[in-house]
Amino acid sequence: MSTAKKDYKRITVKSLTEMKRAGEKVSMLTAYDFSMAKIVDQAGIDVILVGDSASNVMAGHETTLPITLDHMIYHASSVVRAISRSLVVVDLPFGSYQSDAKEALRSSIRIMKESGGHAVKMEGGSEIKDSIKRILRAGIPVMGHLGLTPQSIYKFGTYTVRAKQEAEAEKLKEDALMLQKLGCFSLVLEKVPAKLAGEVADSLDIPVIGIGAGNQVDGQVLVLHDMLGMDHAFNPRFLRRYEDLNSIMTNAIKQYNDDVKSREFPNENEQY
Ligand code: KIV
Repeated sequence: MSTAKKDYKRITVKSLTEMKRAGEKVSMLTAYDFSMAKIVDQAGIDVILVGDSASNVMAGHETTLPITLDHMIYHASSVVRAISRSLVVVDLPFGSYQSDAKEALRSSIRIMKESGGHAVKMEGGSEIKDSIKRILRAGIPVMGHLGLTPQSIYKFGTYTVRAKQEAEAEKLKEDALMLQKLGCFSLVLEKVPAKLAGEVADSLDIPVIGIGAGNQVDGQVLVLHDMLGMDHAFNPRFLRRYEDLNSIMTNAIKQYNDDVKSREFPNENEQY
């Protein structure tokens, strides 16, 4: 299998399928604001997810449930203004698509029109089939999301690994196939056994992007703030920390504080 990278000037939903065919892994990270999105885009990440994890990371909520469609549009439009290459996928937040297909379409249209995002992501399988169909019929690309679906946290009760039992694994496989048949361009699998995720990826033509789903899938996604080490308290097994920004930022801020208190900042060269 080739690992040679094609030089994509702009990532589209089609590029992701091409990458899967060519054996190139898809890279995806979250971003919720202009400054971070600019860095992520310029670093060459293929897909930027404006995740509803903004509810936890940016707003400090315990779950993703409180974030609203207006909040998501605000975050997504800030991200879109920063990017020149990445594909921008925006989460439909809890309550914006579950009640019926018309509402789901209205919410997706608002995201596409008001933020300029390129696609939406939705949590769930057969339960939201009609909504997915309706959105796709309007020409809006949809990324699926199965396994641990945080918008259903109060149904699950915990954030532990999903689909360890045969029945749930079978339902997940059926849902994954259904999402591909409907026309979803990609699928996120969150916190499921690596073997199951690999089987799902092998059975589909669309790319399967994993988080806590092992490396037999077609790409990986992490929450940007987690992989940069912003919060020492969040330590799931699947998370690799690439930096310890918490310590780096704390040290810089403490140094600034000391310099202000000791009158060391600003010095002669830092004034007019
Ligand atoms: O909201 C989010 O950040 C997500 C990822 C964890 C896939 O959905």
